[in-house]
Amino acid sequence: MLKNKNIVLGITGGIAAYKAAELTRALIKEGANVKVIMTESAGKFITPLTMRTLSQNQVYTDMFVPVDKYDIAHIALADFADAFVIAPATANIIGKIASGIGDDLLSTTIMAQDKPTLICPAMNDKMLSNPVVQENISKIKKIGYVVMESAEGELACKTKGKGRLPEIPKIMEEIKRILASKDFKGVKVLITAGPTEEPLDPVRFITNMSSGKMGYALASAAHGRGAKAILISGPTSLPSPPVEKIIKVRTAKEMHKAVLDNYKKVDVIIKAAAVADYRPKVTLKEKIKKDTKKISLKLEKNPDIISEVGKNKGKRILVGFAMETQNLLANARNKLISKNMDLIVANNLREEGAGFRTDTNIITIIDRSGKIESLGKMTKIGAAGVILDRVKKLLGRKGKGKK
Ligand code: CTP
Repeated sequence: MLKNKNIVLGITGGIAAYKAAELTRALIKEGANVKVIMTESAGKFITPLTMRTLSQNQVYTDMFVPVDKYDIAHIALADFADAFVIAPATANIIGKIASGIGDDLLSTTIMAQDKPTLICPAMNDKMLSNPVVQENISKIKKIGYVVMESAEGELACKTKGKGRLPEIPKIMEEIKRILASKDFKGVKVLITAGPTEEPLDPVRFITNMSSGKMGYALASAAHGRGAKAILISGPTSLPSPPVEKIIKVRTAKEMHKAVLDNYKKVDVIIKAAAVADYRPKVTLKEKIKKDTKKISLKLEKNPDIISEVGKNKGKRILVGFAMETQNLLANARNKLISKNMDLIVANNLREEGAGFRTDTNIITIIDRSGKIESLGKMTKIGAAGVILDRVKKLLGRKGKGKK
């Protein structure tokens, strides 16, 4: 999907600049045309010659050297690009973008363009968590720049923390996502994600292993493809994806209410949340003390949210998930029919690389005609893309519309 796409890669001065070489190779390998802009400090970490050799293009470093006889560099590069990527992005370039400073070729070019732009911060962990840097990141996100989360691990300064450049395959996924066509423009999508928590007392609760990663990937992919996405999320530690609206809930009852309040407004409902099927019959106001020898919990059933939506879905597309440990296909097919879904995405918790908390998933998509599509291991972002492709086909067939 990157074939013949024009990418302008901005490299700024951080130790991760050497990884921009690897990113360039990955882009070229997938058929993209890459033009590189380097800041003066980037040149202290990696040479323009390296980047010229890998990108097979002239490298741009100077504001005042014209691209060719007639073009002005920052305008010509802005015209050329289908997308801009800054990797690594220092606190300095983020600050400049947030404040409207254009004092070199990269900052000026970024200001003079309106293409999808991906910023991949990489810096020392304390620098990254500095409130000013965080404020700048929030500011540029609000304007519409896509800012990736830095990875955690060992940093060049020998400390451990958050601040590493995201892994190259993740950057590649994100570049593909921002370049994806806006084929969900005008479509409203509601997505549920994460676990629910069912409190026993003020300090304890029943929950499950869901991290929310699959639902968040779907929300972010839907938004990226132009949908108006509403995300209803149980408690997770994930950063909020860029969507129209996020409703944070804790319990299944709260999720139930949020879904019922919102599903009539949308065309597509995707229920990726792992809703707790049971909740404690009573939630104690005070902490349960350990002075009794035996304790038994009385549980009662939570509402089955997707079944209720299934009964009144009208023309809406309803997609559910099935997480199984055995009889994957039979169980998933039963859920598809009994809950009146249009598609079910099944995954087997026992398979390596599938299920909760991983960044990858191995999914099987089943539709109402009984068609079974088993997909190999892919990232959750990749899986989200395929699920949306299948939803898109159904939207085309059914004719988008509520009621
Ligand atoms: N679901 C829901 N409300 C519930 C339970 C599940 O909306 N109270 C939805 C999930 O979001 C998912 C689908 O139903 O899209 C299937 O969830 P799953 O937990 O796999 O199935 P259950 O119906 O709960 O059946 P079981 O736990 O017996 O496998």
